Parts: sequence; structure tokens; C-alpha cells
Amino acid sequence: MKTFKSVLTTVFATVVLMSCGGEKKKEKESFSYEKESATNKSEVKEAPAVEVLTDKEVAPLLAKNTCVACHKKDEKLIGPSYKDIAKRNYEDKRIVELIYKPEPENWPEYKVPMLALPQVPKGDAFQIARWINSLK
Ligand code: HEC
Repeated sequence: MKTFKSVLTTVFATVVLMSCGGEKKKEKESFSYEKESATNKSEVKEAPAVEVLTDKEVAPLLAKNTCVACHKKDEKLIGPSYKDIAKRNYEDKRIVELIYKPEPENWPEYKVPMLALPQVPKGDAFQIARWINSLK
């Protein structure tokens, strides 16, 4: 009985430890707009988008998420060019926020406001944001 108990304790402890580890990882991967202060350089590195994609690699993401309908890299279309957006010097995270919740008042010269695109996967949004910022 004693051994059974200690085995049980060990199993319990392992499960607790494992779930703690899992929790921690989850916390790192998740992304919160509220926690402004949580963005230091090292944490940004751990965000879903680590590498800057090339134009060719980012193209399918822009197509899949309908950005192509309104944006081009060098020329304005319905929305500003990505190069012009890059000049605003937004942080990647801020660009992601603006994809989810556009602020048309930032671009008064554009008559049609950007559509909010909350369905864009966070990973895609970060990859696109990093790519936009690489155009500076
Ligand atoms: C229906 C057309 C349309 C679509 C689709 C669209 N945009 Fe836009 N976007 C605009 C317009 C217009 C603006 C400028 C006015 C505004 O922000 O509303 C803009 C502005 C932006 C800005 C600058 C925001 C700011 O406040 O400075 C970013 C970044 C951006 N778009 C990225 C994207 C990305 C990435 C996608 C695809 C996931 C996308 N847009 C899809 C029309 C669009």
C-alpha cells in the first residue's frame, strides 16, 4: 500500500510538473494586445513569425488573406503601398493590431476605409508585419 501511494504521488507530481511546463509554453506563444510592456526584443523573437519572408514567400499569405485586393508593394491601390506603411515605423505588433482593427483616421486621404480582418491567423499577421517592416 505504501509503494502504491508513493507511485501515485510520483505520477501526480509528474502530471503537475508536465502541465506546468505546458502552461508556461502556452503563455509564451500567446499574444496579448493588452500587455504593452510585454514586448521586449527577446519576446518578439519568440512570437510566431521569426524570419522575414521574401516577397515570393509572403505573396501567398497576402493572397490568402485578401490583402492583395487593396494593397501593392510599391504603388497605392485602394489602400497605401506596403512601402508607405513601412515608413510609418510601426512595431510589428502594432501592424498586427491594425490588421485586426484598422484606424482609417491614420490615412485620411484614403476614402474607403480598410476592412477589419480579425480572421487573419496571428502567425500570418506577424509574418506580414515583419515583411512590411523589412521594406524600409
Ligand atoms: C478592402 C480593402 C483592404 C483590404 C482587403 C486590406 N486593406 Fe489594408 N488598408 C486599406 C486601406 C484603405 C487603408 C488605409 C485606410 C485605413 O487604414 O483604413 C489600409 C491600411 C493598412 C495598414 C496601415 C494601417 C494604419 O493605420 O496605418 C496596414 C498595415 C494594412 N492596411 C495591412 C493590410 C493587410 C496585411 C491586409 C491583409 C491581411 C490588408 N491590409 C487588407 C484597405 C484594405
